[in-house]
Amino acid sequence: MTTDKLGRPFRDLRISITDRCNFRCPYCMPEEIYGDRYQFLPKADLLTFEEITRLAGIMAGLGAVKVRVTGGEPLVRNQVERLIRRLAGVQGIRDLAMTTNGYLLAQKAQALKDAGLRRLTVSLDSLDEEVFARMNGRGFGPRRVLEGIEAAEKVGLDPIKINAVVQRGVNDHTIVSLARYFKERGHVVRFIEYMDVGTLNGWRLDHVVSADEMVSMIDAEMPLEPVESSYRGEVAERYRYRDGDGEIGVIASVTKPFCGDCTRLRLSPDGSIYTCLFASLGMDLRGPLRAGASDAELADMASRRWGSRKDRYSEERASMTEPPREKVEMYHIGG
Ligand code: GTP
Ligand code: 5AD
Ligand code: SF4
Ligand code: SF4
Repeated sequence: MTTDKLGRPFRDLRISITDRCNFRCPYCMPEEIYGDRYQFLPKADLLTFEEITRLAGIMAGLGAVKVRVTGGEPLVRNQVERLIRRLAGVQGIRDLAMTTNGYLLAQKAQALKDAGLRRLTVSLDSLDEEVFARMNGRGFGPRRVLEGIEAAEKVGLDPIKINAVVQRGVNDHTIVSLARYFKERGHVVRFIEYMDVGTLNGWRLDHVVSADEMVSMIDAEMPLEPVESSYRGEVAERYRYRDGDGEIGVIASVTKPFCGDCTRLRLSPDGSIYTCLFASLGMDLRGPLRAGASDAELADMASRRWGSRKDRYSEERASMTEPPREKVEMYHIGG
């Protein structure tokens, strides 16, 4: 088993398959920067599906049992279902999931299911037309995303989880209605503390609504009680409704960091691996891969990288006097 300098094993691989997205959430890809002229990665720089699958197999050999496909927005990558089919066949991967913004989900749900995807996380920050329009940066209402979720239910993707990033003064007044809507439909919503990922969103601590505060807001309307986590290292703290009908999660990455249990490695669309969401530097595997490195050589590089890992950014954040100048952007390595 590959463990890092803090004794953490490698278990989860998160694969970002494109840096493009059809949304422009201001906290991730602000429109002023990612406008028409922005140069996304050229196709030749993206790992092919064959290359991604090969690396996933190598990572499974190093301990990965869970794979999450992310982006950017994974559904904008052409024929993503063909990648899912390949990943579903990788030996050792027991859990294959995807995080999407849901905009293209209605048309893709069946193909994803047929390809072997089991479960899904849909990002949806608010059901309020205006709030959501602002938060996706494109003026879209939530209707298409909700239709996507319904389509995913119909084809049997299960569980479907909903992720909502909460920003003070932006969507915090809409979290109770979001919770209520999905309580009625039987899906778990996870409310995420707004994080200082990347360098572009002008993050400030006073924009963060703490997980405790979110729980109190929902508890006041629909009483909650805590539940044991379902596995070690689960990022969400779970709460169930006292009426016995459903649960929510809160992800307290700012106020209660969970680096101690962090078993995640991220693969970027152009083939670099990152050992932390807040890393500034990745390790390029595409170069050696395309130059003919063997599986054993690639495994050795990744394993050494994991072995030298000491990342615990979220735990260190509180004691930092200044934020680091360079950080990889979230849309580049996925959430
Ligand atoms: P399940 O497997 O369904 O439990 O979900 P998950 O643990 O894979 O969570 P998901 O990928 O949906 O992550 C939810 C959110 O938690 C992400 O969008 C991030 O905002 C945050 N998050 C996930 N992993 C990390 C991490 O390693 N570090 C930090 N700081 N935040 C993370
Ligand atoms: N803080 C917390 N979560 C974020 N995400 C994107 N940027 C941030 C941030 N600054 C979330 C998205 C999506 C997942 C991929 O990451 O909303 O749910
Ligand atoms: Fe796209 Fe997700 Fe970033 Fe929003 S948070 S811009 S949906 S990648
Ligand atoms: Fe893992 Fe880095 Fe997130 Fe801590 S901040 S949980 S080390 S990815």
